[in-house]
Amino acid sequence: MNYSGHKNMDETLAQLQSLLAPFGQTHLLDFWDRLTPEERNSLEAEIRAIDFGQIARLFEKREAGEDLHEMIERAGPPPALRLDGQNNRFSADEARSRGREAMQAGQIGVILVAGGQGTRLGFPHPKGMFPIGPVSGNSLFQIHIEKILADSRRYGVSIPLYIMTSPATHDETVEFLDRNDRFGLAKDQLTIFRQGTMPAVDDQSGKVLLVNKSHLALSPDGHGGMLDAFAKSGAMDAARDRGIRQLFYFQVDNPLVDICGLDFLGYHLLSGSEFSSQVIAKRDPLDRVGNIVRLEDERLLMVEYSDLPEKLAHRRNPDGSLEIWAGSIAVHVMDLEFLNRMAKQTAAGNEALPFHTARKKVDYLDRSGRTVRPDEPNAIKFERFIFDLLPSAADAIAVEVDPQRAFAPLKNAPGDPTDTPESVKAQLVAQAKDWLQRAGIEVSEGVKVEISPLFARNETEVAKKIPAGTQVTQDRYFC
Ligand code: UTP
Repeated sequence: MNYSGHKNMDETLAQLQSLLAPFGQTHLLDFWDRLTPEERNSLEAEIRAIDFGQIARLFEKREAGEDLHEMIERAGPPPALRLDGQNNRFSADEARSRGREAMQAGQIGVILVAGGQGTRLGFPHPKGMFPIGPVSGNSLFQIHIEKILADSRRYGVSIPLYIMTSPATHDETVEFLDRNDRFGLAKDQLTIFRQGTMPAVDDQSGKVLLVNKSHLALSPDGHGGMLDAFAKSGAMDAARDRGIRQLFYFQVDNPLVDICGLDFLGYHLLSGSEFSSQVIAKRDPLDRVGNIVRLEDERLLMVEYSDLPEKLAHRRNPDGSLEIWAGSIAVHVMDLEFLNRMAKQTAAGNEALPFHTARKKVDYLDRSGRTVRPDEPNAIKFERFIFDLLPSAADAIAVEVDPQRAFAPLKNAPGDPTDTPESVKAQLVAQAKDWLQRAGIEVSEGVKVEISPLFARNETEVAKKIPAGTQVTQDRYFC
């Protein structure tokens, strides 16, 4: 290397040292002398992308949250549209008709968050590529996209899909969708944008961890990273320019999700809600789902099951039902103007979405250059959650759905007790059987059936395509 190269590198080192020193983070340069120029460049880029002041503040505030506890203790159930329809402000027919109108007017876009690392599932690719189709072996991505294609055809519009990836999932996702011609979506129907990352810090000292000599321990900044990333990527403005008014939001791991379900869209629109959430009725007070509650000041809030005071969780109505009944399944509709307002607030420094902290096991390089694989949580990760937008939304509502028909999350590895590939496939088969049987079609015991969304999106469409009385005696994929 020539003299000026040395000088530049020395200058860079000095600059980085003065950037890191006020925050006690100069250990990130411990191995600088041993790095190649390329490694130095990438380490420099990672360091410069971090707001160390923010990390210091987040670490300091990591145990905060007491105020909310008191408010949560006095919380009640949210305004909701229930499945039994008894006290609903609008009928399901009214809702469907309003939902259909918005679909036909091309005002609905779809946003799919697929930036998570899927650590529990342990699949070595982005979770959206997991072959979940019980007969077809189709991927989660294909199943979701076919629903959007089917609805685009049905309503005569081009429904845009926005997929959020992260550095952990981006390249493979793009390559997979390209290789499969976006499973039939038109080019201008699909936008892929990437969320940001946050560093993991040592849970005792707040020092940012290195995974190796030239890389920080970075991970995606939570599904709430969507707000910032959607706005900054330009996708939000493009959606608005295209006439989109509402976004149907869901997570990549749920192949039963009823994308753009008309009742849900309709209830959201008729209520004038800025943020609506699908919920299921909890069976047990301590079910491990997020709870949607209403605070005394009327704002809605999502309370994690671990934060729900036990006394509140057990409170019952006179008829014996749970008072705090609404468990979130992470399916929402959001008003685009509301999102835009929230993104602007965040950009102006008034954060609409706080960071949450979680203690996790994170492998790291210690100061002697040895990789440590801890047995116990050793680090703090910072994540934003999209549902934290709820309290800021006007007229937010919860809409109850039937878990058998709308919720089959793929979270855990084969063999685990719940939410595994086996259990999700069984739920997909059960739904297909149910639709076939309602249409008067007989499916023999033990036979696996699967219905492509392009074949039918519900039992009525099944009935139009297969004559009643048909018998299905072997595994079959209807497509
Ligand atoms: P989870 O919280 O279940 O995380 O994400 P995960 O990555 O799928 O799995 P684990 O916890 O590592 O095992 C719920 C949804 O939010 C998305 C995921 O892709 C999934 O659709 N997500 C999560 C993001 O898009 N970005 C994130 O930073 C985190």
